[in-house]
Amino acid sequence: MCGIVGYVGYRQAQPILFNSLFRLEYRGYDSCGIAIADNGITVYKDAGKVGNLEKRVPHLEGTAGIGHTRWATHGEPNQINAHPHCDCSGRFAVVHNGIIGNYRLLKKQLIAEGHRFISETDSEVIPHLIEKYYRGDLEGAVATALKDVEGCYAIIVLAAGESDLVAARKGNPLIIGIGDRENFVASDVPAVLDDTNRVVYLEDGDLGVISTAGIRIMRDGREVAWEEKKILWSVEDAQRAGYEHFMLKEIHEQPRVIRDTLIGWLSSDESSGESLVDLTKMQGDIRPLTLLACGTSYHAALVGRYIIEKVLGIPVRVELASEVNYYDRPPDGAVAIAITQSGETADTLRAMKRAKAAGCLLLAITNVMDSSASRIADEVVYTRAGPEIGVAATKSFAVQLIILYSLAILSYKVDARRLADLVMELRQLPEKLERLLSDKDGIKECAGYLAGYESVFFIGRGINYPIALEGALKLKEISYIHAEGYAAGELKHGSFALLGENTPVVAILARDNTYQAMLSNIKEVKARKAPVIALAEEGDDNVGEFADMVISVPAVDLLFSAVVNVVALQLLAYYTARERGCPIDTPRNLAKSVTVE
Ligand code: G6P
Repeated sequence: MCGIVGYVGYRQAQPILFNSLFRLEYRGYDSCGIAIADNGITVYKDAGKVGNLEKRVPHLEGTAGIGHTRWATHGEPNQINAHPHCDCSGRFAVVHNGIIGNYRLLKKQLIAEGHRFISETDSEVIPHLIEKYYRGDLEGAVATALKDVEGCYAIIVLAAGESDLVAARKGNPLIIGIGDRENFVASDVPAVLDDTNRVVYLEDGDLGVISTAGIRIMRDGREVAWEEKKILWSVEDAQRAGYEHFMLKEIHEQPRVIRDTLIGWLSSDESSGESLVDLTKMQGDIRPLTLLACGTSYHAALVGRYIIEKVLGIPVRVELASEVNYYDRPPDGAVAIAITQSGETADTLRAMKRAKAAGCLLLAITNVMDSSASRIADEVVYTRAGPEIGVAATKSFAVQLIILYSLAILSYKVDARRLADLVMELRQLPEKLERLLSDKDGIKECAGYLAGYESVFFIGRGINYPIALEGALKLKEISYIHAEGYAAGELKHGSFALLGENTPVVAILARDNTYQAMLSNIKEVKARKAPVIALAEEGDDNVGEFADMVISVPAVDLLFSAVVNVVALQLLAYYTARERGCPIDTPRNLAKSVTVE
């Protein structure tokens, strides 16, 4: 995720902006830049570290400016795509965090009206729109420009000859820092904490006008009163947005990153969308589509098989990238899809090269622009999770699933009504996850219970079998409890020998065609005296009779149960590890990106 900062006051802006950008470095970024208003606007920006840019920028005279750290989403990380972006006249400079869903259309219209674009970013449309609407009133021009924009944003606008910064948000966070004869604006609190701990949180749809003299906040065209909050966190706490660990922060970011990811796929009318990649056309014949991945991404691929086969009826083969390299026959379907959040996993890269050499059309689903995977692939679809700092993958997994759902659903052309229902359900997922995340008491109680054991089984069937694997992986990664994910029907083929009162079983139930079989499995487990924690849909009254503890999750269309269930299991692992006092964000022996085979 990009970081944005702005300053207006009595001091020189340049050192203040650089200090704020250093404070945002923890989020991860690939390029950065600043703009200072002197007589006109001066911009310095480049790919690479804030420290390198700081050394190269000469002293710039000016007491108002904006800055940016970029995490590339549209266009590779380079000097031209770095922010701030300007209009043709160079009068307006903008920093943006978010995604503009309709930027292609806006860009086309602006070019037809004579605007010249130099970057590949979606963000560049904003200064051009402001230029288009500016009639001597910056605040009005920004408000009008934003009416044209679909998507999510937090922006700060700096204009030559104006004493105000104008900032606005929709979907992405934005705060104003209050100083004495100076004010600050930023995407997050750590950026301003060295200068002030007095902060105002803007709400969605707000537009803020920030000057040396004070601030104004406009909502629906009217000025509203604002409330100042005192931040008592240290900078380190603030970087985690007050959460105890990055992992917990990232779990809570999932509704937002899912919304961000969907913006690029779903059109603004409620029931449709446009697939960037039509799987049915790409596949062309009935050879299986091959999914390649490692670790958590492999679990996403396993879920992907259920989704694609169910929605599109295309046969899917899923391979561990670390194993497929030893098969004599490389993947030879028409299309291979590699799933890798980092884009750098050595085994996945090798499998991709083999698939390509065997003639597959190669698609990569990755979270990192310009990663090795995105360079090897013929087509790339980017997840919009932003940097993930906790070693255990959480939000990157959720958005991988969302991409797989989107790929399948939006390639589906058969029944318009079913399509509309699925799209609607996809849209409602973030809200349902917010509900799950707002009431964690039941999960915490189960975590307190699990923390006392040394071995746990996770079982599921159908689309929730890979979720059982992922739940077990999360638990062992961060709590160091031995955990195994199992297809529920397989337990009796061996693992039953281990079951007893010291081996709790977490059973994932969905009210699909696996439900009755899962209930039977729970009874079999109980008969071996193993304690059972059941994960079940709200309103499921049967399960309480058989399970010792129940975690309830919001009801969703059964195709999407994998998403709500995995978020519940991430929280279960998190609170269990916390109970055991483990170093959650940096588990022993594990790396975020595994670049050796
Ligand atoms: C490492 C990470 C896992 C990740 C796996 C695959 O083991 O710790 O979280 O799932 O690599 O990584 P990738 O970047 O290819 O998704």
